[in-house]
Amino acid sequence: MTVHKVCQYPEPVLLKRTEEVRQIGQKEKNLVRDMIETMHATMGVGLSANQIGYSLRIFVACPTCRKGQEMIFFNPRIVQRSGRIREDEGCLSVVGYQKKVTRYRKVRISAENMNGEKIETEGDGLLARIFQHEIDHLDGKLYIHRLGYLERKSMLRKLNKA
Ligand code: CO
Repeated sequence: MTVHKVCQYPEPVLLKRTEEVRQIGQKEKNLVRDMIETMHATMGVGLSANQIGYSLRIFVACPTCRKGQEMIFFNPRIVQRSGRIREDEGCLSVVGYQKKVTRYRKVRISAENMNGEKIETEGDGLLARIFQHEIDHLDGKLYIHRLGYLERKSMLRKLNKA
């Protein structure tokens, strides 16, 4: 298992839509292990494959930050959404910032597990936020893109200068 360097904005791999996983083999399983390891090492509650440089539709989540409680999703998509909530959000690929982002309060996602079986999971609160944040990553989007126009512009200006 390897802890990877987390890609930082504006690395292109973060800004491009990731590819569906057709088959889950040893390579994909090893990648998931590395993602989990990297998420814990960086104290994250979620991590997408493209954040460590693999443009594949996979993310892991662990809202409790406890080892052994990770959730793994291949080819996830949101199938139900409800409510709205505005809360602070940060990202391992945009280190040093936190901004209020409006998200759905509750979402239901459909995905495949490590065995390639269809699963559906409902998230509420933090878990719902992680689901939306990570699926955005897989679509090549960062939370910055969800900010209001002026806030987004000022943040991008700072990041592009750094
Ligand atoms: Co992120």
